[in-house]
Amino acid sequence: MVSNNNKTRGYALGLVLVASVTLSACGGGSSETPSAPSVQAMSDAAVAGEALFNDQSLSASGQQSCATCHVKSRAFTADPAVDKGLPVPLGGVNMDEPGFRNAPSLMYAAFTPAFSLADGAASGGFFRDGRASTLAAQAIQPFVIPFEMANADAAEVVSRLKNSPDTLRLYMKAFATDSFSDPNQTLTNMGAAIAAYETEDVEEFEPFTSKFDAYVDGKVKLSDRELNGLALFNNPGKGNCTSCHPSVHQEFSSRALFTDFSYDNIGIPRNWNIPANAANPTNPINGTPLKYMPAAVNVPNDAEYTYYDMGICGPFVSDPQDAGARPDLARLIPSCGQFKVPTLRNIALTAPYFHNGAFPEIHEAVEWYITRDINNNTGNNPTPVPAGPGGNPYQAVGTFFTAADGTPDLYQYNDLPVIYDANVNAGEVPYTAPAIAGGNGPTMTAQEIDDLVLFLCTLTDGFDPNNPSAYNVPAQCQPISSPSL
Ligand code: HEC
Ligand code: HEC
Repeated sequence: MVSNNNKTRGYALGLVLVASVTLSACGGGSSETPSAPSVQAMSDAAVAGEALFNDQSLSASGQQSCATCHVKSRAFTADPAVDKGLPVPLGGVNMDEPGFRNAPSLMYAAFTPAFSLADGAASGGFFRDGRASTLAAQAIQPFVIPFEMANADAAEVVSRLKNSPDTLRLYMKAFATDSFSDPNQTLTNMGAAIAAYETEDVEEFEPFTSKFDAYVDGKVKLSDRELNGLALFNNPGKGNCTSCHPSVHQEFSSRALFTDFSYDNIGIPRNWNIPANAANPTNPINGTPLKYMPAAVNVPNDAEYTYYDMGICGPFVSDPQDAGARPDLARLIPSCGQFKVPTLRNIALTAPYFHNGAFPEIHEAVEWYITRDINNNTGNNPTPVPAGPGGNPYQAVGTFFTAADGTPDLYQYNDLPVIYDANVNAGEVPYTAPAIAGGNGPTMTAQEIDDLVLFLCTLTDGFDPNNPSAYNVPAQCQPISSPSL
């Protein structure tokens, strides 16, 4: 979905970044990667922001910083290995409280426009449900979220900052006038500093150094299979991915971001590895009941499960202190189940995928897109496409929508109460392949899915056209041998 909403903030940011890239492109770079634009010196606030971002002593556990859940080598997403294999990060005072969502990449997040709602269609804002108004307003929240850095309040954060000499020194350099008399103001400054870091450190957060970028610049050729993947990504009758993850630049930036920052409900299956999704949610480490369960919002009494994460319509709401934040959208029922479209840049580094981390590999995520409404539960689809030549080649995969015990769930879109099933986007390719493709089954063959994955792997930053063999792409980017159709 391409929305035409208010994008003032993102547009302004985009211009700033474009200007710095243009300037440095003429200036000649001095960095290790010759193709990367050289970076202007960061402001004092951004330098302080980097220290704040990495300082574990600012958390109640003393063991967690922003960087713990947003790991640089993983394009600033969480590392499931650190989180005991969970798709949601652990945090809290004892580092044993699981969160509710898969941590998104922070790369290119600075281009996100302000939240807006036009004719019921949401766009922009921070967090997967857009509930924080700005990057700076977002950045103060993890410090006090009880299942993240878990400080009781701003005063506790500030006392920790005062006890962290190196970070404090950089903070004071940027905010010399702060007398620490108002902890909320100090926390606000800290958020602004972190946002400056996330925006100004373009080498870390907005490098645009993928193989795809080099291809767009005419510095490298894509392989035949990568090119085929790009064509499938753009083809409205095949992947149609570009309609939500645009492969050409929009007004947000001078290069494609592979998100239009719109929201959509794509019917992701429930992930039973999220502790909150269990019938009796318990702490995965010590077995006690989960301490922090958000109050149910928009969940009918007769729904199959009691907790649902429905993105923009709840259960999470904006922080009352975030003045510019979006209003509570619990009454926007048609938006129940919608999440913000994420960038696909660096997707090869950011597993697992989607807001609930339902799929551990890109290949599975793409296969799911192509077969969501084909390879589904007979309960919801009385006429599943039969396996075999000309039919559904994926039948062996089994249903995506399983109950807690692994058997097919009663309903297809099982991460949403049934009454909201109509909210799921079923009218656009690559969904509803049987209807749209004239009953011919999925819009893409297994071989085509492989090619699409190879293309998505070209979106990984760190490609040097002068030294292509040094491009370090993860194992899931090696060509996959597919079952022949
Ligand atoms: C315990 C893990 C954890 C910690 C610590 C943490 N985050 Fe996050 N972060 C997440 C998760 C999970 C989300 C998604 C939450 C949601 O959508 O409700 C997220 C979302 C974000 C987003 C939104 C990105 C977007 O595209 O909307 C930003 C920005 C961000 N975090 C920055 C930070 C900063 C800055 C810090 C430190 C002050 C931090 N995070 C600390 C887990 C964490
Ligand atoms: C109608 C809009 C739409 C279309 C078309 C679409 N996507 Fe998405 N995509 C989304 C939304 C919304 C999300 C986030 C959903 C969530 O987290 O619940 C998403 C998430 C993803 C993710 C997970 C990203 C992450 O960081 O976890 C991948 C991978 C992805 N899409 C790939 C594709 C591919 C490949 C195609 C084409 C075959 C495609 N998408 C087509 C809207 C779309």
